[in-house]
Amino acid sequence: MERKVRTAVVGCGMISSIYLKNLKNLFTIIDLVAIGNRSRAAAEEKAKAFDIPRVMTIDEIAASDDIELVVNLTPAFAHYSIIKQMLLAGKHVYTEKTMTVSLDEARELVRIADEKGLYLGVAPDTVLGAGLQTARRAILTDMIGSISSGLAVINRNQTLNSEYFTFLQGNGGSLPYDVGIYYVGALLSLLGPVKAIRAFGAPAPVHEPEFLYRNAEAQPWQIPGSNVISASLQFESGALVSVLFDGNTVNASQHTITLFGSRGILKVGDPDTFGGPVSLIYADQPECVLPFTHGYNGVNTLDPSPFDFYGHRGIGVAEMAYAIRKGRPNRCSKEYGLHCLEVLNGMEESAATGKTIEPVSRFEMKPLAPGYYSSFMGGNGRADAEKSLID
Ligand SMILES: NC(=O)c1ccc[n+]([C@@H]2O[C@H](COP(=O)([O-])OP(=O)(O)OC[C@H]3O[C@@H](n4cnc5c(N)ncnc54)[C@H](O)[C@@H]3O)[C@@H](O)[C@H]2O)c1
Repeated sequence: MERKVRTAVVGCGMISSIYLKNLKNLFTIIDLVAIGNRSRAAAEEKAKAFDIPRVMTIDEIAASDDIELVVNLTPAFAHYSIIKQMLLAGKHVYTEKTMTVSLDEARELVRIADEKGLYLGVAPDTVLGAGLQTARRAILTDMIGSISSGLAVINRNQTLNSEYFTFLQGNGGSLPYDVGIYYVGALLSLLGPVKAIRAFGAPAPVHEPEFLYRNAEAQPWQIPGSNVISASLQFESGALVSVLFDGNTVNASQHTITLFGSRGILKVGDPDTFGGPVSLIYADQPECVLPFTHGYNGVNTLDPSPFDFYGHRGIGVAEMAYAIRKGRPNRCSKEYGLHCLEVLNGMEESAATGKTIEPVSRFEMKPLAPGYYSSFMGGNGRADAEKSLID
């Protein structure tokens, strides 16, 4: 057994419950010792609900002698200052997506982490789930041959959703940044770094707040940036992938990731989940769903909550905790997070300027070892999948 990593969570909003539940109960490498938030009342409530020993301010967490790792679950606009404060205080940090809202800030954080020899991990960690790891294994074992092209699609009514999830009304709330990042992360995990990007974009409509709430005082708003992106990504591997993110349509998501290879076609399930089904298509054969080769399939029914479909969120934190103990690189690394951001920004920049954008960052992500179980007793017990996170 590795020594547990003493961990604090910052941010107690919507996504925090599934993280707290998993960090507390599922991953033995994590010792969840503290929680902090802007509002102390919210932190106290979560501490009580999840049996977390200490409620601390953000400054107290930074100044603490014993906390090694800080998990940042605040909104994207708050990421830069919190991550910087924690890195400068000598803490390893794992952050929800996106690393920051600006590329310059993300590059600065990567530099600080490098200079201080600290780990900085970045979501999405769905790339470590059973679905995407099984897809990766299918590619690595040559089941579809060499990949020439692909297609990635996600659609929603992002402006309608921004009535309920109000943080979507600001920077980082457009469909490409908020949801497209799962598709970008998945493509990067399957195909490696992107060499060049060309894109067209369209803005979100100005939104009259009348669908979900009839609040007479609410003013119309417009989600910033492109809410529709049609892009072409050229990967270093040579694969050409067409990307369509459309946030101006309806909430009937046609999530698609399809990769076309010389030997076959691979279809990958929703990359915003951990257990999206993976299927294989060969010529003259019916489509065939592949059994998962990896653990963490998203089925996690311990104390069900509304965010349980997020199943195994926190794998990236646990995998990074093992990396810290082993002194090896972590998979959802700062370089992966930076490249995700460069690709998203590259699409936006190409749409605005008409130019081809070439990301400068590069990353590597080793696959997880196959052959482990996620859970047993219908998802109610911990099984041995944590072993796949060790090396
Ligand atoms: N909600 C989701 O479905 C979802 C899913 C996946 C990832 N995420 C990501 O998780 C992160 C948090 O999302 P959420 O939906 O939980 O947000 P939220 O708005 O519900 O909660 C954010 C929390 O951060 C706290 N906070 C805000 N600014 C702060 C600051 N400056 N210092 C300290 N605390 C601060 C708030 O008080 C709140 O407790 C975001 O990066 C988001 O992209 C959210």
